[in-house]
Amino acid sequence: MGIISIAAVAGLSLRSLIQNIIPPQEVTSSTFPTLTLVNSKTGQPIKTSDLTVNSPEIVVFNYPLQNEPNFLLRLGNSSGQDIAIKSVTVKIPATGQTYTSPGGVGPYKSVVASSAICQHLGCVPPEIHYYPPGTSIPNTGISGSSNHGLIHCNCHGSTYDPINGFSVVTGPTTHPLPSVVLSYDSSSDTYKAVSMVGPTIYGHSSDLSGGSAISGTSTEVVNEGTPST
Ligand code: FES
Repeated sequence: MGIISIAAVAGLSLRSLIQNIIPPQEVTSSTFPTLTLVNSKTGQPIKTSDLTVNSPEIVVFNYPLQNEPNFLLRLGNSSGQDIAIKSVTVKIPATGQTYTSPGGVGPYKSVVASSAICQHLGCVPPEIHYYPPGTSIPNTGISGSSNHGLIHCNCHGSTYDPINGFSVVTGPTTHPLPSVVLSYDSSSDTYKAVSMVGPTIYGHSSDLSGGSAISGTSTEVVNEGTPST
């Protein structure tokens, strides 16, 4: 898969800035689109073998609106073996409300996805990034031995736990990352994004307003990026 371009990253960052200045366009869909996740290099639907366990290189796809990035992660333990991700109750610190996260999908129940837009002030990859188990997270005091696989935003220090529903580990964010609900077809070994749960995606009044929905059921581009350290 291709490396996410600087221009693309700059565009995403600029987009979050623009959203703070210009009221979002109120284009609202009534239902979440269904999106088959496609490998941008091959043009074919992503297979489990396309995803590396604990990969420090992120896989990003846009959903449910265009230019709205999400992480796609295949999670494992410190030995690099897939771990089954359980559905858990996630608390939103800002409100005290709770919701149930989707569990992992795929042959090992280890594949999960979430919004890649930080819930604090909207930073996007590579500023917000996945740090695999055993890696230290710069400027946080989180050592390799205490990191079981976390998402951290370098903009202001928010940290999220993908093993536990992308819940909040450290602020300043007061909202977990919204989870993408994935479906997995074992007969074809393919993955689809079907909806989202959790807090509203940062910068939007609802998950389905403020932009143009991803259309169709396939062909969405997936890119990779490298950590921001
Ligand atoms: S935008 Fe991510 S911590 Fe502030």
